[in-house]
Amino acid sequence: MFSIGIIGVGNIGGTLAHTLLDEDTFNIRLYDICPQIAEGKAKDLYQSAIVSGKNCPKITSVISLKDLSPCDVIVITAGQSRRPGMDRRDLLAENKAIITSIAKELTDSQAIIIVVTNPVDLMSFYCHQTLDSTQQRVIGMSGVLDSARFCAHTAQALSLSPGNIQGYVIGAHNTHMVPLTSSLRIGGMPPSPAQLECLHSYDVVKCTQNGGTEIVNLLKTSSAFYGPTEAIKKMILSIACDQKLVLPCSVKLNGEYGAQNLFCGVPVILGSHGAEQILEYPLSDEERIQWHHSIESIKKDLSSL
Ligand code: 2OP
Repeated sequence: MFSIGIIGVGNIGGTLAHTLLDEDTFNIRLYDICPQIAEGKAKDLYQSAIVSGKNCPKITSVISLKDLSPCDVIVITAGQSRRPGMDRRDLLAENKAIITSIAKELTDSQAIIIVVTNPVDLMSFYCHQTLDSTQQRVIGMSGVLDSARFCAHTAQALSLSPGNIQGYVIGAHNTHMVPLTSSLRIGGMPPSPAQLECLHSYDVVKCTQNGGTEIVNLLKTSSAFYGPTEAIKKMILSIACDQKLVLPCSVKLNGEYGAQNLFCGVPVILGSHGAEQILEYPLSDEERIQWHHSIESIKKDLSSL
């Protein structure tokens, strides 16, 4: 049975466990720095599955990260999250220490690792570096969530169903992220000049870039967790079911889009082997400039520690 380890059972980890349990096809193991939290939520989730008619829910808690080694996919949500007024980069030093201490315990694992902890491009880099992994098995969750926000704002600006919108966001998971307006499709067609004008006056790009901050400022004591959870689940299903979805994720770049030796969001084919291929989309001049700012922001953060 495909097995998933979740490290950090807070808002995102707990909500993710609940939605994965609903699929009734995964063996789920929970780990938290506070073992009672993992144990209590595992019991609560097991009982919730009985209520919803599952015959044999597979969810347990573990007290050692080494107990996650047999998992096929491990999701890392552990670390501090933002409060109002904070930038994701403000979490860099504290969460780097957390991520590297976790990764040191996962060196025996062969799992595909989905990093959620922010700033996710940097945390994915440090996780990959600590694992000393030659394969492309560390993947940061960023662009799936940002693209959903891009499509949501586009739909709102044009008074259309989000189901009619296909749009990708690449780049850093920060205010320099790059919503790809040049490859936006509205009902399968490029936006018309009138629609582009509407998107510009609504400032869909800025609204997308500030999507996470907007929710942090509203929730006060938490960052978003329903959107991140669904984004992680989409990535897990593409891996577990070998769906080969094209999803924007933060992966190690080795020259693609002119960048290397860092993690940044790009469209990848997600299958049973993880990020199986990076797709290089044509960028408009403006998007190329935004991409450059994205890469420079990551390089600056990498050199700051
Ligand atoms: C967000 O953008 C938590 O970084 C995540 O909401």
